[in-house]
Amino acid sequence: MKILKKEGFNRDNIVSYGNMFLIGNGHLGYRGTLEEYKKEQMVGLNVAGFYDRYEDKWRESVNIPNPFYVEINNHNILKNKYISHYQKLDISNALFHRRTEYDDLVIESSRFVCFEPNNHIVFRYKIYLKKDKMISLKIGTDTDIYEINGPHFRSKNIDRVDNCLIFTGLTNEKKIIVEKNNYKFDRKSHVSNYKNGIFNIKIDGKNGQIYVFKCFSKIIEKSEDFINDVKYNYNALLNTHKKIMSDKWSMAKVTIEGNKKAQDAIDYSIYHLLILGNEKYSHSIPARGVSGQTYKGAIFWDTEIFMLPFYTLTFPNIAKKLIEYRLNTYNGAVAKAKDVGYGGAFYAWESQDDGIEACSKYNVTDPITNEPIRTYFDERQIHISADIAYGMLQYIDVTNDYSFLTSTNMLNVLEDIVEFYRSYSTIIEGKYHFLKVIGPDEYHDLIDDNAYTNIMVKYVTLKVYEIMKMTKGHYEYADYINFANNIYIKDPVDNVIEQFDGYNKLEDSSVEKIKSQLRHPNEYYGFIARNTKIIKQADVITLLVLLQNMFDKDVMKANFDYYYKNTEHGSSLSSSMYSIIASKIGYDDIAYDMFYKSASIDLGVNQKMYAGGIYIGGTHPASNAGAYLSLVFGMCGLTFKDGKPTIDPHLPKHIDNIIFKIIYRGKKYLIDARKGISKI
Ligand code: IFM
Repeated sequence: MKILKKEGFNRDNIVSYGNMFLIGNGHLGYRGTLEEYKKEQMVGLNVAGFYDRYEDKWRESVNIPNPFYVEINNHNILKNKYISHYQKLDISNALFHRRTEYDDLVIESSRFVCFEPNNHIVFRYKIYLKKDKMISLKIGTDTDIYEINGPHFRSKNIDRVDNCLIFTGLTNEKKIIVEKNNYKFDRKSHVSNYKNGIFNIKIDGKNGQIYVFKCFSKIIEKSEDFINDVKYNYNALLNTHKKIMSDKWSMAKVTIEGNKKAQDAIDYSIYHLLILGNEKYSHSIPARGVSGQTYKGAIFWDTEIFMLPFYTLTFPNIAKKLIEYRLNTYNGAVAKAKDVGYGGAFYAWESQDDGIEACSKYNVTDPITNEPIRTYFDERQIHISADIAYGMLQYIDVTNDYSFLTSTNMLNVLEDIVEFYRSYSTIIEGKYHFLKVIGPDEYHDLIDDNAYTNIMVKYVTLKVYEIMKMTKGHYEYADYINFANNIYIKDPVDNVIEQFDGYNKLEDSSVEKIKSQLRHPNEYYGFIARNTKIIKQADVITLLVLLQNMFDKDVMKANFDYYYKNTEHGSSLSSSMYSIIASKIGYDDIAYDMFYKSASIDLGVNQKMYAGGIYIGGTHPASNAGAYLSLVFGMCGLTFKDGKPTIDPHLPKHIDNIIFKIIYRGKKYLIDARKGISKI
């Protein structure tokens, strides 16, 4: 897919299109809204890594004023009749377009978020007149911001210097953000007045004339950097932007032969990953990318387990930044462990700039009574630290970047992750148990010995031991072996790994039955599912994906057959994991369907927007990345052996071939599922 285009206007799609047409550069995200929209339509210019708390509400990433507000009298799509309308996203170039035709004029706008220079968003607005007409236009910076848990600015100030508006916002946490919006007005127009960030423009319009307005917006967190503005030239910035995007695509493109629908979906997924990776920032990638403040703009295991492998294989410099984020937030993890009574490093389930736990104790509400419900995700999803260690170890293995390991605090972090698990564990009859935890399946909480957690901790501990032995050259870590080998791991029954102690005894049910018992469409399924075998998302199956060398096909098949029917896929992280295992066991149709579900998550307008009364809408980069993993690790069967990539393709009938590039241990490879692997 090169262009995503939606014709016509439908009020019901405003929020979905805001996500679907998102543009960004990993630091800034601008939702796919229209110029005349206001906060009610969820206009959002989101700054990743910049957080604030208002009173006792949830701390979240901050949305800042909309520099691209434009309204022409009687030409507001929300209120006025139009002849034709579309909005489109040029995904090759990460460029947003809109075109609306009215009986007397046509509006065309474009915008893009620059990778170079970073922190800039550029906008162009054109009016084509079909009649002689006096036009009165409002154009400027809308400081009435859409916020979930705001207001985040205790003071908002706009200074005007000619056609430049400088917004200075002071957050509740006393941080300053500055947005400098340089407006270039058409020479044939004039500013009739200016008030509160909005210029009133008059044009004595003539039939056939085109009027062009531009805005170059620069966003920084400190004001002193403003002196060296770049020279603003729309076409020059656009050309640079296009070149950067074309280089990114040249590395990341996955070609699916013989299936246009699948190709479009993976293109769109990779688009989202491209607009989220930026090697200049180490604030990592939030679960909803830069599409807004959902989930507080926080970083979850989504990044290490789903997104990181994509970046490690295509843009290792970006992957390195994602890991740097965890190294930089290590103190938060140590503080959290201490706070909940353990040693070592217990990473935040929802992590922000400081690594302090941002996950609320009451993460869902009862949609009927509006009562907050205690969820325990914060204290009991202990697998997060193992996931992060796993991500670090995978990165080192795939890149061979041992200097990163030894020149940073990574060894310390890994050591403290193991330490955390040692201190959390309870010894019962000589075995280490992890009690009252939550695994990836969040519907069953405070359960004992989640297989995913226990086996991941064992794996990570043994790996860390190897690394310590190799890098530190001594054996004082020998007790890691004892710990790892004595972690309680229940024997599978008929190859089925029990998700947690007691899972097999729970009531059989079905997703339909759970749905029929909901008291409200937005009710959190977990309230009902917790007493049954219905799980939210891939749990044991994710384990089989991550540690696939440890499990043979019979185990994969037995677990797939057992858990697939019990999975609600209530998390967008679920289907890609099932797709990968389905490919491995020859369930090709399911592999394809689950891949497509994951890849097309943000292409529809019916996404799940609420969980237990709380808004969870936005883009789904982990699902996008999961779709990539389904193709690369599932259908193509990519693995690494003896310092080289190998493949074991299982292409479903829907797909003729898959071709992509990777970087492995500093060398670039072209992988063609039909023809094999070649160095490039
Ligand atoms: O990390 C996930 C979790 O596994 C399920 N709930 C949503 C989170 C963010 O995507």
